[in-house]
This record gives sequence, C-alpha cells and structure tokens, in this order.
Amino acid sequence: MLKYILAGITAAAFIVPGGAMAQSPIVIKFSHVVANDTPKGKGALKFKELAEKYTNGKVKIEVYPNSSLYKDKEEIEALQLGSVQMLAPSTAKFAPLGAKEFEALDLPWLFKDEATYDKAMKGKIGKWLFKKLEPKGITGLAYWDNGFHMVSANRPLLNPADFQGLKFRISGSKIADRYFRELGAIPQIMAFSEVYQALQTGVVDGCENTPSNYLTQKFHEVQKDITVSNHAHLQYAVIVNSKFWNGLPPDIRKELEKAMDEATDYTNSIAVKENADALDAIKKSGKTTLHYLTDDQRKAWQKAMQPTYAWAKGRVGQEILDIMAKELDIKMN
Ligand code: LMR
Repeated sequence: MLKYILAGITAAAFIVPGGAMAQSPIVIKFSHVVANDTPKGKGALKFKELAEKYTNGKVKIEVYPNSSLYKDKEEIEALQLGSVQMLAPSTAKFAPLGAKEFEALDLPWLFKDEATYDKAMKGKIGKWLFKKLEPKGITGLAYWDNGFHMVSANRPLLNPADFQGLKFRISGSKIADRYFRELGAIPQIMAFSEVYQALQTGVVDGCENTPSNYLTQKFHEVQKDITVSNHAHLQYAVIVNSKFWNGLPPDIRKELEKAMDEATDYTNSIAVKENADALDAIKKSGKTTLHYLTDDQRKAWQKAMQPTYAWAKGRVGQEILDIMAKELDIKMN
C-alpha cells in the first residue's frame, strides 16, 4: 500500500534537500524536423531557454530537432494524440489538421519581399488562419519565418521547359504540387528527413527549400544546379494541443506566452541573415552552381505557374484568397 502511495507521489512531486516537497516540472516536448543551426532550430532553443527561466524551472522544454522524435506527418498525429505538446511545422503541412486554407501561403510569388510577408502574418491573414485551427483542438501561438524557396536539380532550371519530366520532392502542399505540375514536373510528397537520400539515389531529381535547409541537410552536395528563384515562401506556425495548453496553470501559461513572444521576435529577426549566410556558405562550398533568373525568365515562370491561382480556389476556398488579395493588394486571378 505504502509503495503505491509513494509511487503516486513521485509521479507528481519529489523531495528536495531539507525535506520539502517540490513539484516535478511540467514537461513540454517540442518536436521539429530541421537542424538546430537553422532559424527554427535556434528559435526552439531560445524558447526553451526563456521558458525555463521565466517559469523558474517549473516547466522543462525538451527540444527534439532533426526528426529525432517524429517525421513530418507523424508529428502532427502525435500532437493530436497528446504524445508531443509543441510543434512548429511548415504551414505547407497543415492539411492533415483539417486546415488546408494554410496552403494559400504557398501560392507562387505571393509575397514580393520579406517585409510584405511579415506584415501579412502579423495582420489579418495570420489571425484568420489561426482561427481555422481552433475547432480542430489546436492553438496557434506564433508564426516563425524561414525565407524564400530556391529550387534545384542536376541541370540548370532557367526556363519552364527545363522542369519537363523531372520528379520534385514537395513537403505536402497541394498548391506546390500544382505549380510544379504547371511547369511540367512530377511532384512527390516526401518527409523532410528522407530528401537527402532520395536526391542522392535519384528517387527524385530535385527539390525546393530555403538556403538554411539546403546547407544543413547538405542538399547542395547532391544537386548540381540551384536556382535562387524566391518563387515561394517557407514559414512555420508554432502550435500546441488546445486541451493541454488551456489546462496549464494560468500563471505558467502567461510566462510561456511571454517566452514565446520573445523567441518569436528573435527567430524572425535572424531568419533573413541566417539564410543569406547559408547561401554564402553554399556558394563557397563549390559543390553546386547557383543560378539567378533574368527578368524575362522570371516572367516566363510566373506565366507558367499563374493557373495555380485560379485552381487554388477549389483547394483553399475563396475567402482566404479574397483576404489575401485585399491585404496584399494583388490580383488573385
Ligand atoms: C520541408 O519539409 O521541406 C520543410 O517543412 C522543413 C522545415 O520544417 O523547414
């Protein structure tokens, strides 16, 4: 009997020197798929540092980078089941949460620059999208930036015709699926942790991603040609299981929100430079050739990908497209 009582107590509390009882910390597992040395990786570690400091150790953040706990789709399932408490997936991976509206952010050449992206996510677009998560039992805490996508293969990708027949790894979004198809390529969804090997063995011919992800995953070592196209944008939403989050003691949750706000500012302030530095390192490695589009080439890509906008309505709905058109002052189709 005593054994059972003690076992019950040790699950929730432990005895500190002097005999006083201390609560065992609340553990938050934060899983993600990229390297520590990326904007998201650094953001997760910053959040850990601040959250543990502000809660005086009452909360312990366990960060699992590099798909060490779960791969792309599994981590979303794990969050819904409560096996992991915090994630920061790319918004291109939100369809399994029942929120495919997030894929509108993958429309090609949607954001003309980082400042436009930043304003959109802090404003109505970001807020409207987070509302879509609520009925799914998921709470959106913050948007974390990465940057613009490059695209690569073992041949220079300069004109739409260069994509013809090539297999491209995509991360999950049907919008990306669509724009690669418009270019004549064959897209294929694959978990992030499997991309390097798939490129190396020729399971796929190419991929898209940001410089920081290329560098840390060594994609540039298995792709002869990279086009710094900036054709789409990669961003994350930090999400938690609402039941878990709302069940936290309010004072603790407040400290965690403060830590998240600061970690978000930090992450978003380093993303551009992290990617510029990564691009520099890729260039210096000499392992691949970087290409930049001329204005005419960019226009040809934009024209080829344009039908994605009309197609998107059936996938993400008219409402988010209308909001984006208004907020970003662009024509949707
Ligand atoms: C990808 O799968 O390419 C990205 O979502 C990886 C990431 O999280 O940056």
